[in-house]
Amino acid sequence: MAKIDFGGVVEEVITAEEFTIERARRVLDGETVAVLGYGVQGPGQALNMRDNGVRVIIGQREGSKSWQKALDDGFEPGKTLFPVEEAARQATIVMNLLSDAGQVATWPVIKKQLAPGDALYFSHGFGVVYKDQTGIVPPADVDVILVAPKGSGTTVRRNFLDGSGINASYAVFQDATGKASERALALGIAIGSGYLFPTTFEKEVYSDLTGERGVLMGALAGLMEAQYNLLRSKGHSPSEAFNETVEELTQSLIRLVAENGMDWMFANCSTTAQRGALDWAPRFRDAVAPLFEELYESVVSGKETERVLSANSAPDYRARLDAELSALGNSEMWRAGAAVRKLRPENRSPK
Ligand SMILES: NC(=O)c1ccc[n+]([C@@H]2O[C@H](COP(=O)([O-])OP(=O)(O)OC[C@H]3O[C@@H](n4cnc5c(N)ncnc54)[C@H](OP(=O)(O)O)[C@@H]3O)[C@@H](O)[C@H]2O)c1
Repeated sequence: MAKIDFGGVVEEVITAEEFTIERARRVLDGETVAVLGYGVQGPGQALNMRDNGVRVIIGQREGSKSWQKALDDGFEPGKTLFPVEEAARQATIVMNLLSDAGQVATWPVIKKQLAPGDALYFSHGFGVVYKDQTGIVPPADVDVILVAPKGSGTTVRRNFLDGSGINASYAVFQDATGKASERALALGIAIGSGYLFPTTFEKEVYSDLTGERGVLMGALAGLMEAQYNLLRSKGHSPSEAFNETVEELTQSLIRLVAENGMDWMFANCSTTAQRGALDWAPRFRDAVAPLFEELYESVVSGKETERVLSANSAPDYRARLDAELSALGNSEMWRAGAAVRKLRPENRSPK
């Protein structure tokens, strides 16, 4: 483990220097790793492990787009591609990467396939932590571990191919074999993590649900909409409102934040902008702090997961989500966005 100072707090993290891919291969030697679900995380993690020489099989229900995707990626029915239950039966490590609602629906059949000494792996603490809602209570004789990449499955794959990685947290919920931690770290390295930081199942799910409802997705979308609507209501054109709200952020400023932090981004803007942003940042922070408290409470109390499970277990859940996403995409702001993107030099057709 490497001790790293994160702004005055020292944490222990693991990189491929401390836990090499050769060591991961040795730990996973002789294991059959079944990736259940070939949605978004499934392909990223499965393909990276396969490229790293791990014996990977896929468990996926037949007849859907995900089954076809697994075929397209070279998994062979009856050899490396099976129905979910059969893959779980063959595996010594079951990586449950079905959707969170799908994990609940399939748990009774998966549970029956777990043998003593197997490992049950998740990329989210959801199912295990909210057991009263999900019914997911693993048997005592299996390891229960987690590696949660902090990014989309698409990026897990993309970054692996370009030689970088996605940071991930890891945790052990239950160590039945005495090798749970080794197994978790080996899998974390084999799926191509940048660095791995320790967490617990609870902390992972609380932070993840807060983050996606907050800054990463929900708050970001809400904040942008509020500013865009304000500018439009004050007579600014869609092009002006969109550029001042989204385009400048995504095309310029957030890249500077990624490169070198917020102070670096501020330092690369005018002193007029710096003065104003420094004055207004604490006001925004304080205005939304109570909302963040409410959000965290809603996560911890199980209200958020209850809503996810009831909404996403409905037979028509995908159509309903698609309808809401389409309404968002068709709002004036995001139609303006589409027009702005088309005008980017790289998207303009040559005359
Ligand atoms: N999305 C991410 O980038 C991300 C990041 C970090 C962690 N995670 C975690 O990784 C896990 C997988 O997430 P994901 O986003 O990859 O999920 P997803 O794309 O929603 O996964 C869908 C998969 O679950 C299957 N499925 C859904 N309902 C099912 C059911 N009732 N019976 C059988 N199969 C069912 C789907 O099969 P069909 O296609 O046949 O419906 C598909 O293979 C989750 O625990 C998630 O929280 C995800």
